Amino acid sequence: MERDKVTIRQITKRAGDAPRLTMITAYDYYSARFADRAGVDLILVGDSLGPFMLGYPSTVPVTMEEMLHHCRAVTRARPAALVVGDLPFGSYQSGAAQAVANAVRLIKEGGCAAVKLEGGEERAAAIAAIVAAGIPVMGHVGLEPQSEHLTGGYRVQGRTAAAAERLVRAAGAVAAAGCFALVVEAVPRKIAAEITRRVPVATIGIGAGAGCDGQVLIYHEVIGMHTATAPRYVKQYADVGAQIDAALARYCAEVRGGTFPDRAHSYLMERTELAAFHARLAAGDGVAPGPAGGSAPAGGG
Ligand code: KIV
Repeated sequence: MERDKVTIRQITKRAGDAPRLTMITAYDYYSARFADRAGVDLILVGDSLGPFMLGYPSTVPVTMEEMLHHCRAVTRARPAALVVGDLPFGSYQSGAAQAVANAVRLIKEGGCAAVKLEGGEERAAAIAAIVAAGIPVMGHVGLEPQSEHLTGGYRVQGRTAAAAERLVRAAGAVAAAGCFALVVEAVPRKIAAEITRRVPVATIGIGAGAGCDGQVLIYHEVIGMHTATAPRYVKQYADVGAQIDAALARYCAEVRGGTFPDRAHSYLMERTELAAFHARLAAGDGVAPGPAGGSAPAGGG
């Protein structure tokens, strides 16, 4: 059954035991269809498509053109889930005008309903400008993969009292700038829960414990369609990679052994048409003879 489109107004703080928000990444048409069939609230076309779709070592090399290409593939699936497009590294760091211009592209050309960007206080002006342009913004604090060269790699954030306080301040600044929701990545669970208590917008955790308003994971890691070691916080719900290995090994074996394609996977032809075809060949109507002199094989089909 078709469900109603998820709207920004539904992405709100979760009180008490209200169901948490569900978000998952998707980078292409079919992953979007499967995510939507599962009933997720939000689909994130994350710049994690760099490592997971394009084979990049990190998210840093991902371009606007690549983001747009994958956003279009996802939004062509017409999901009911709210689609958020990630602004890639270099597409908003130069200032508010650049941020607005690229956010507009993700909406107009990519078909997204909202954009996401990383950072704290230093991004407040860009966030406010994008929101003023009429585009919903999701913030992202904690581990900021686009800043890996500054922070020295992928590390859990906010593990000291001072760092945790800085994180709470960053989250507050991003919320005050007008974000409708906030990703909190790789943060001790008590700190993520404290951020969730303090900010007026929904927090969506990844590696941030159960105290957030929602959760996000990477599609490929959830279904086990990856080969790299996953971070501690990932729960793998299926082993699709093992199924792919088995299916492709069987395909190769059957082609090599001549058992695929069989009759059930071949197109057939009326016996009378086939007989007429062989008769034409035998009459030699200018058709090149086969290696065995063009004689008709027995049987139809
Ligand atoms: O790009 C991405 O997939 C993300 C998630 C890890 C939140 O930003």
